[in-house]
Order: sequence, then structure tokens, then C-alpha cells
Amino acid sequence: MPAIVIVGAQWGDEGKGKITDMLAEGVDVVVRYQGGANAGHTMVVDGTSYIVHMIPSGILYDDKICIIGDDVVVNPKILISEIDKMEARGISTKNLRISCNAHMVMPYHMELDRLEEELKGKHKIGTTGRGIGPTYVDKAGRLGIRVVDLFDKDEFIGRLGHTLKYKNLILREIFKHKGYEVEDIAGEYLEYGKRLAPYVADTSMIISQALREEKFVLLEGAQGTLLDVTHGTYPYVTSSHPISGGACIGAGIGPCKIDRVLGITKAYTTRVGEGPFPTELMDDTGEHLRKKGGEFGTTTGRPRRCGWLDAVLLRYSVRINSMSALAMTKLDVLDELPVIRICTGYQVGDEIIREFTTDIRKLRESTPVYEELPGWQTDTSKITDFRDFPDETKSYIRRVEELIHAPIAIISVGPDRQQTVLFRKFV
Ligand code: GDP
Ligand code: IMO
Ligand code: MG
Repeated sequence: MPAIVIVGAQWGDEGKGKITDMLAEGVDVVVRYQGGANAGHTMVVDGTSYIVHMIPSGILYDDKICIIGDDVVVNPKILISEIDKMEARGISTKNLRISCNAHMVMPYHMELDRLEEELKGKHKIGTTGRGIGPTYVDKAGRLGIRVVDLFDKDEFIGRLGHTLKYKNLILREIFKHKGYEVEDIAGEYLEYGKRLAPYVADTSMIISQALREEKFVLLEGAQGTLLDVTHGTYPYVTSSHPISGGACIGAGIGPCKIDRVLGITKAYTTRVGEGPFPTELMDDTGEHLRKKGGEFGTTTGRPRRCGWLDAVLLRYSVRINSMSALAMTKLDVLDELPVIRICTGYQVGDEIIREFTTDIRKLRESTPVYEELPGWQTDTSKITDFRDFPDETKSYIRRVEELIHAPIAIISVGPDRQQTVLFRKFV
């Protein structure tokens, strides 16, 4: 049985939660492999909506092992509140497992995220304010505190004291902040440890064992390819590796164990926060997409910037992730539009670029070159079979497939689990 990576093909919020939840029915294990509570993944079942920030989007089935992997940064307070909310709604978390290797978001990370954004002024990233960047900085800087540290009081207090020496220098000297004492944090976090203890495990071992037993594993990414710290629109990115390559690190398995990569793209493009976005629409069409698509951040409530589908960006995403196929979500949001545009190149000065670049100066200066297709102006939200789509819809999907050099296997026409058209086989 295969291991499949689900990866955001754009700047996040592509509908990874919906597609993961839908595919999870047929799998055994669902693993969130990176990011933290900056993510907001939405699942809708029979009109009831569930949003998760840290818990994998397989949690609605009580027989799936749901793993928070090694490269996730865990905010224990948010995670515990999410567990409590799920349990209160009758969703069992008994099969949730948290990697002992995962680093924790500490109170000073949240504070530094806010203060650094303030200091950056017009160069700010527009982060979610969840302390994600500072936590990954400490991980790479070997000052991080891991979930496993919660279970040895002396080790935890020792590590925290050592880290606070550095953090307090920065907080006090640069930001004129009062800083933190070990006692401000230790008691609270050691209590979190007691709550989380039953869930903590060697998750890489669980995943390897499942694969050995030929079980089906879904690896769910957060954010999206263009937010990847190496391959995204740096510095307007998150601090982890949402791309498929990140799944190996976040699950603790080697690349040969991964069979397929499913990219998730919207039928148009959105972005939250700062940074270049060549196909962004500042007009009525952009407003229509935001309104019809409900494009407001799941985590922060910020309005999402909206624009046409960018095939140049998507072809890059297909390449960086080795996508076997894609799921296209929110097709229904385009239903009313008389014409639909797809970006096929960027005009930069006298030059037309056909391949994506992470040179953000070029991206900023680029004017999109569009191909125009007729809209279908038909309600697609109840369609369940590809053959029932209007011809214009079929043409749009097929043209996107041609331009991005990859098949679109799944089409989503509404937020509900059921509002899904299975077009091509990809497993
Ligand atoms: P994620 O972060 O990639 O999981 O995506 P989000 O949950 O942040 O944002 C996607 C939003 O679109 C959520 O509100 C979903 O319920 C919604 N959604 C997902 N698929 C569709 C679809 O095909 N049509 C419509 N109209 N909404 C969708
Ligand atoms: P999901 O998993 C959309 C964006 C932020 C900001 C940048 C860095 O729901 O798709 P961070 O807080 O990570 O340091 O912010 O990344 N961002 C997201 N945008 N969806 C997300 O997650 C995001 N997570 C982070 O808006 O531009
Ligand atoms: Mg989201």
C-alpha cells in the first residue's frame, strides 16, 4: 500500500484539509509533517465544519492513526485546546500521536514573532503571529525545546534556563521587553506535558511499522510550495518545508517510501500576508473571488488576496514536488464569471518569462501574460461526474493540465466532503 504526500501547490489554503479528509476514509495513517498553528485546515461533513490548526485532517474518522510529525512545531496550549474542542464535539482523539522530536513554540517565540514584524516595518512578512519563524530559528540554532524535554523536569528547566539567557538578551537589549524567567514558563509547560503524555510517541517508528504492514499512509503538508523557506518567494515565506521533500523529514521516513505526490491547487490563486503575487486582482473580479470563495484566513481572519490561476507558478510547483497529479478545488467559485484567465507567462521589461522565478524583484515587476477562456456560467456545485460538466469547464480543466504538465485527478466543487468529482485514477 502506498504513502502519498498531499502538498499545497500555491501559497497555502488550497483546500488541503478538505482533500486530506476526503481521502483519509480509505487510509490507515494520516501524518501532519511540518508547520504549526499557522495552518488552518477546514473539513466540512454534511454541512458541519471543523477547523484544525495542529491536528491532522484525518481526525474525523475514529479508526485512523493521526500523527503530528517530527518537523511540526507544537504549541501545546493551542493543541490541548484543539483536543478539548474535538472531544467536546464527540470526535475521539484516542488515536492521536505526537512526535517526541517535535519542537515546541514557547511564549517568547510568540512575542519575538510580533516584535520582529514590528521592527521590520514595511519589510514585514505578514506572519500569522503564531511564533513559527522564531521556533524554527531556535531549532536550527540548537536552542529549541522539544516535546520529549517535557518529561524530565530537570532537563526541561536546565534547557529553558540556558535558552532564556540568549532570549532575554535579545528581548531586553533590542526590544526593551521585560523578558522571561524560568518560573514564568516551567510550571505551565510541565502541566501541558502531563496532559499530552498519553499522546507522545516515537512516531517515525509507528509510520515505518505501518508501511511494513502494507498500510496506507497519507502525509499532509501545511502551507504551500511558494511558502517553502528554500523554494518559495523568499523572504515572504514560512520557516519550514511544506514541499513534498519535507514529508520525509517530518515523518521520519526515507524518500523511497513515498509512492505518489498529490498537489492541491485552487481553480484560481490566493495569498495571505505580504510578498509578490503576479496575478493578483485589485478589481471587482478579485472582490468577487474573495466574496464567493469566502477568502478570509482560517487562522487570522485576514482577507486573502485573490487572483487568476497562474500556470507558470503551478508548473514550477509540479516540478519542485514531483507531483503525480493534482486536485483542483473551488472550481465552483468561478461559476458566474463570463471569461476566465490563465497566466501563461510574465512580461518583465521587454522579456517574456515562461518559467517561474523566485527572484522576487522580477516577480514584483512582472505583468502577467494571459490566455482567455470562456466561462461556463452554470452552477457546478452539485456535479459529481466529470461528464456532467459544461464543455467550457472541461476545456478549462484540460487546458490547465496541458499548461502545467500534470493530470488533474480530483475536482472539488464545494467545501463538503461529498462535493468532489473523481476524474482520473492516481493511486
Ligand atoms: P487548507 O489550509 O489548504 O486546508 O485550506 P483552508 O481550509 O484554509 O481554506 C480552504 C477553504 O475553502 C475552506 O473554507 C474550505 O471549506 C473551502 N473549500 C475547500 N474546497 C472547496 C471547494 O471546492 N469549493 C468551495 N466553495 N469551497 C471549498
Ligand atoms: P495553511 O496550512 C496561508 C503565510 C503567512 C505569511 C507567511 C509566514 O492553512 O495553508 P508564518 O506565520 O508561517 O511565519 O507566516 O506564511 N502562511 C499561510 N498562508 N495558509 C497557511 O497555512 C499559512 N501559514 C502561513 O500569512 O505570509
Ligand atoms: Mg488554511
